[in-house]
Amino acid sequence: MNYQVLARKWRPHNFTEVVGQEHVVKSLMNALQHDRLHHAYLFTGTRGVGKTTIARILAKAINCQNLQDFNPCGECSVCRDLDEGRFLDLIEVDAASRTKVEDTRDLLDNVQYAPNQGRYKVYLIDEVHMLSGHSFNALLKTLEEPPPHVKFLLATTDPHKIPVTVLSRCLQFNLKRLLPGQIFKQMEFILQQEQIESETAALKLLARAADGSMRDGLSLLDQAIVFGNGKVSAEQVGAMLGTVAQQPVDDLLTALADGDAAAILNKINEIANLTPDFSDVLQQILRVLHRIALIQQVPGAIDHDFDAEMIAALASRLTPEDVQLYYQIGLIGQRDLDLAPDPRSGFEMVMLRMLTFRPVVQEQSPAKPAQASRAIVKPEVKTPQAPVVSFHKPESVQEPAIERIDNNWAEMIVAMKIGGMTRELANNCVLENIDDKVCTLILDPGHKQLRSAVTEEKLQNALRHYRGTSLKLVINTEKTTVDSPAVQLTKEREDRQLAAIDAINSDENIQALKEHFDARVLPGTIEPV
Ligand SMILES: Nc1ncnc2c1ncn2[C@@H]1O[C@H](COP(=O)(O)OP(=O)(O)OP(=O)(O)O)[C@@H](O)[C@H]1O
Ligand SMILES: [Mg+2]
Ligand SMILES: [Zn+2]
Repeated sequence: MNYQVLARKWRPHNFTEVVGQEHVVKSLMNALQHDRLHHAYLFTGTRGVGKTTIARILAKAINCQNLQDFNPCGECSVCRDLDEGRFLDLIEVDAASRTKVEDTRDLLDNVQYAPNQGRYKVYLIDEVHMLSGHSFNALLKTLEEPPPHVKFLLATTDPHKIPVTVLSRCLQFNLKRLLPGQIFKQMEFILQQEQIESETAALKLLARAADGSMRDGLSLLDQAIVFGNGKVSAEQVGAMLGTVAQQPVDDLLTALADGDAAAILNKINEIANLTPDFSDVLQQILRVLHRIALIQQVPGAIDHDFDAEMIAALASRLTPEDVQLYYQIGLIGQRDLDLAPDPRSGFEMVMLRMLTFRPVVQEQSPAKPAQASRAIVKPEVKTPQAPVVSFHKPESVQEPAIERIDNNWAEMIVAMKIGGMTRELANNCVLENIDDKVCTLILDPGHKQLRSAVTEEKLQNALRHYRGTSLKLVINTEKTTVDSPAVQLTKEREDRQLAAIDAINSDENIQALKEHFDARVLPGTIEPV
């Protein structure tokens, strides 16, 4: 059997079949409709986005004997000859292999002769940036005074290498990189026609890996078909590309949003079975976090892609501060991954670090007195508690006025419902004074790195909202003997820990176990409840 690669087999034959590039297709069809064709076009854009394809369709449309809604008919002799590559009046040149000036002269020598078959002689010069300087000059002469029966279609990935004199004589169209969603749909369509089974997750992976190029996408699809023995499954594509499907990555982030350490470790276990490149998985996580951050700041900032829904869901569950923090941890984690004893444990540590350093938003009030502790002997790993996180509403949304508590700073922090770095800053400050005009806080110099215009503005806004006045926030960085809520919290934690250790040591049952069975309490496993 003669196997034709998908990219060639499925090259669009008319404008309607072209995926994306609407801006180009529309202008060209308009020009055809009003018979206002320019004598030279330049198509630019990265590899495999349709430059050659659109140029050939245009060549066909210019000469087609029976245009259908300004689309080549596909049936007349011109269309058929052109599709089969034997249309005499289309002169295709790969400039990459014919860079010399003699080549260009040879080519242009025939320009003045009338077309054989069609109305126009079309010169399609691909990779035109490869022409030598002399060749460009030769071309320029013809471009300046082209015979009326000639059209030039130039294509290049690198328009910067084309002399401006040439550029200025062409109508330039810049083709866009294709969105993963567009590539995905085209793959789905082609596989349907080819009657090849596939999994959605597999095609999503391939569409992402195509990195904006339809040709690359279809070549990867060819490989995947061979690799999977005629079937395209996510697992095999993952193995082929060395990447993990998007779903496990999304699941990981969801578990992170849930603050569920057990689920995170479970997922990593699942992923590990696919023997992935963990640094690649981390990259995928970073990419998703980046997109979440974008739509949190500017809804609609990212293209509506096949995973837009998932991104939006995560964006509403994570605070912007958390997203920034995770991104930073992931970014730095990437650097350290090689230093870990093995990639998996390194990856696990990065994920757990995200969980550990995530600011807890609605914890119990730091000012509450320490509760009596009940202690347990618990030898397994500690699972951080799932904090409840609320998505920041835009400042303009008016919430019902919060019930005002007294001037206890720790309680005010809780009542203001701030999170992330803003809360960190507040927790490390001591309230010196607050009235309707000014709120003065004191920050220990050891924590001055918490200060930033953004966090201070957020804190000021929260205070204004809380007090219902437009007060000004002043933070003085100086030493103070008063405990900040953060210090109170640490002290309280230490007290509870000591109480728990105490409770364990004085527990009768434990004493009996020690005595009779030589039991010993493992240090570090006692935690207060
Ligand atoms: N916009 C598109 N719509 C549908 N298929 C496309 C599109 N762009 C590229 N393809 C597919 O990719 C193949 C290669 O496209 P084409 O030759 O037009 O790319 P190109 O932009 O000229 O790339 P290069 O810079 O590598 O020459 C086509 O045969 C087609 O299968
Ligand atoms: Mg091309
Ligand atoms: Zn035709």
